[in-house]
Amino acid sequence: MTVLHASCYPANVTEAPTDGESIAAEDVGRALSDDGDSGQSVPAHHRRIRSFVTRAGRLSTGQRRAIEQHGARFVVPFTPAPLDWPALFGRAAPRILEIGFGMGATTAEIAARRPGDDFLGIEVHAPGVGALLKLLGERELDNVRIIQHDAVEVLERQIAPDSLDGVHIYFPDPWHKARHNKRRLIQPAFVARLASRLRPGGYLHCATDWEPYAQQMLEVLGAEPTLRNTADAFAPRPDYRPTTKFEQRGINLGHGVWDLLFQRAHPAQVTSPL
Ligand SMILES: C[S@@+](CC[C@H](N)C(=O)[O-])C[C@H]1O[C@@H](n2cnc3c(N)ncnc32)[C@H](O)[C@@H]1O
Repeated sequence: MTVLHASCYPANVTEAPTDGESIAAEDVGRALSDDGDSGQSVPAHHRRIRSFVTRAGRLSTGQRRAIEQHGARFVVPFTPAPLDWPALFGRAAPRILEIGFGMGATTAEIAARRPGDDFLGIEVHAPGVGALLKLLGERELDNVRIIQHDAVEVLERQIAPDSLDGVHIYFPDPWHKARHNKRRLIQPAFVARLASRLRPGGYLHCATDWEPYAQQMLEVLGAEPTLRNTADAFAPRPDYRPTTKFEQRGINLGHGVWDLLFQRAHPAQVTSPL
């Protein structure tokens, strides 16, 4: 089956290039790592399942140059301490986190459309970081910062509770095969953590072109007691989210795209499931 989706994989690839076991094996090569909470080393086989594959990914000349020219200004290191947003951006403005920005075209476009907001983009893939830096330089955008690290750990360590005004997750890896579904980012525990980082009234905006994942998102976000759906089910695409070229190709072929727009409830609105 050929799958066209707005991901970083070529359109004729149905899944990530390696399966879950060999991906894990790459990580095991490092044998020991930080456990993400206590700072102590734990064996690799105790580590959490990751939502991404570590790819070798060659940098283009333009991406390498952009990293050299703009990296120091826009890239923030991963450190296990909450970020000081006003210090990072030199102002106090609404704070939007984007997880998995890919090559950054959507990030740069939204940042240009919303100059009054500050955007923190997280991506593990170095060519994507280079590509976004190139766009930031070309478009002279100053309201984006980048962290190149696993978003799960960034969220745990660097994002304070109740601190975000919005979260964008666009076309996260769909992990089509059933045995890989566990790698999908939108899972109950991650969504609970994400919601806790939003301020009451803050929004979570997801989009996908893979219908089974859209249904999973609707189920998982709908079951999180601190979130409220702003639509009956799926939401119309908000004007600030541009369509990507992959997405447009899919739309032209009659494929669907699903947007989900949820809001963190105010404490008085949260009803106990008991
Ligand atoms: C399918 S691509 C979509 C990229 C982009 N949002 C778009 O719409 O074109 C998903 C991206 O998420 C990144 N990603 C997946 N899991 C991640 C994680 N835990 N932390 C940071 N980036 C992640 C991948 O490296 C990949 O670039």
